[in-house]
Amino acid sequence: MWNNYSLLDYNTFGIDVRAARFMEYRSESELLAFLSGEGLEAPYLHIGRGSNLLFTKDFEGTVLHSCIRGVEVLEEDDKQVRVRVGAGTLWDDFVACCVARGWYGAENLSLIPGEVGASAVQNIGAYGVEVKDLIEAVETVDVHGVKRVYANAECRYAYRDSIFKRPDMKSVFVTRVRFVLGKTPCYRLEYGAIRTELEKRPATNLCTIREVIACIRQAKLPDPKVLGNAGSFFKNPVVPRSSFEALLCQYPSMPFYEVDAGSVKIPAGWLIEQCGWKGKGIGRASVHSRQALVLVNLGGATGQDVVALANAVAASVYDKFHIHICPEVNVI
Ligand code: EPU
Repeated sequence: MWNNYSLLDYNTFGIDVRAARFMEYRSESELLAFLSGEGLEAPYLHIGRGSNLLFTKDFEGTVLHSCIRGVEVLEEDDKQVRVRVGAGTLWDDFVACCVARGWYGAENLSLIPGEVGASAVQNIGAYGVEVKDLIEAVETVDVHGVKRVYANAECRYAYRDSIFKRPDMKSVFVTRVRFVLGKTPCYRLEYGAIRTELEKRPATNLCTIREVIACIRQAKLPDPKVLGNAGSFFKNPVVPRSSFEALLCQYPSMPFYEVDAGSVKIPAGWLIEQCGWKGKGIGRASVHSRQALVLVNLGGATGQDVVALANAVAASVYDKFHIHICPEVNVI
């Protein structure tokens, strides 16, 4: 346990805040011993790599972080493999491991920052795949030291959402995630840019898909090591079909994704760009110049600077389109 601990390495926005206490554990038994010994008093916050967090002030409580790492094969046959992965494993290290071992399913999620535990909380997604499609179950320990395994259906997965994001579930910590991956070729190539990039390569295999995803991401998304950010700042809003049709008449080139008979998802990045925000900012916080859905720290921004920018961006989107856009990032 450390006191007055800098969280600079634990938030990809690069916001310079501190935690009153910081506790890192290497095993489930170490976590259980801590909970039954010293115990954990509120306020507390369990984080991964902070790739989806925005701190607006110092955290006056205990921040916990898991160093439970590693990939363990539980069972495998010719068709699939079941694995159990420590919550503190870097997500992209796990994807690299899947690609190297010929396990199919995670490759479209290459290069997403963050850790495996947080991936299961946030239901990370990209290029037609969401992590819920690969998760079999989520192993947890709660603040009282009670262990529970949540089957996929119990996790209530939805777009960037799960049961673990509910306020009353903040006392439940993910320790390991069980995944099922395929062992026979099966690719998700419906995202146009993937096919275009693949045409430039001689073969389609797990390695080339990983390379293609890296190219697509690097072309649009800023590297948090260079420019602080937390990926998409807002969720893409889902609007009723009637509002969507009215908007499409006005903006025939508006991109969209079908959701169901009654609703359509509109890319928030497009809405923000239409409002003229791309590359513009307030103080040291800015809308990224290549992807308007991403807010960046130009260096020295505070969490409040980013919140002020996010509020201004959301207000202009509402003024122009009458659509509310909500943060995907957790503001603390
Ligand atoms: N667009 C613009 N201007 C912009 C950004 C996007 O017009 O500044 C348009 C694009 O031209 C495209 C559409 O919006 O027609 C969608 O853009 P893109 O394919 O880049 O995806 P996105 O909707 O902006 C979502 C996820 C990303 C994920 C990509 C690819 C959310 C909130 N974001 O972004 O996830 O990588 O799709 O699947 O759903 C993340 O969650 O942090 C994240 C990066």
